[in-house]
Amino acid sequence: MTGRFVTFEGIEGCGKSTQMDRLARQLRAAGHEVVATREPGGTALGLALRRILLGEAGITPMAELLLYAADRAQHLAEVVEPALARGAVVLGDRYLDATVAYQGHARGLGAEAVLALHRTPPLDRRPDRTLLLDLDPAEALRRARARNDAQGTAAAEGRFEREGLAFHRAVRAGYRAIAAAEPGRVRVIDASGAVDEVAARVAAALEDLLP
Ligand code: TYD
Repeated sequence: MTGRFVTFEGIEGCGKSTQMDRLARQLRAAGHEVVATREPGGTALGLALRRILLGEAGITPMAELLLYAADRAQHLAEVVEPALARGAVVLGDRYLDATVAYQGHARGLGAEAVLALHRTPPLDRRPDRTLLLDLDPAEALRRARARNDAQGTAAAEGRFEREGLAFHRAVRAGYRAIAAAEPGRVRVIDASGAVDEVAARVAAALEDLLP
């Protein structure tokens, strides 16, 4: 018995966490065992790494790459592989493509430096399907601002402003390059529009994999 590994990717504010939560509920209601997880932070070590990665200024791109890879190695061994071996559906909020887009593309390490690290087990695991929720960064920033106004936090907007729109445009371009190179695995989902509309696109992109 082997499960299915589906990852959600996209820039900050694209709505992937909302869509993933929704899909998890639907699949559970249909009787699937679903393990919903995220990177960085899907394990105890991962939570410690997440605090460093999202809190520390001045981490060099290579150090950042290795910390994300450390998080992933632990996450695969502790969470993802055991769940797949039991036949579960594993939903990942970010995975390897985030590292290629952010560290490889936007931070300039190059996709090959990232992929080279990911040819050795357990890092050689690839998702069965990846949903790229594609959104213009300016629209994502508007959404992050609206969410901050509603919740009274500045966290999401803070992350945007730390990097600026040019960085997020580079991340988006990185993601789209991955999707163009691997159209079988990666499906580009138009993430503009209402939550229900995007959810219908997500469901359509998984129809053959999770009937
Ligand atoms: P998170 O709170 O999960 O953001 P979001 O809710 O938008 O998914 O924070 C993850 C951050 O880490 C995000 O800025 C992207 C970054 N990241 C990388 O740079 N490389 C990676 O390999 C991963 C997994 C995340």
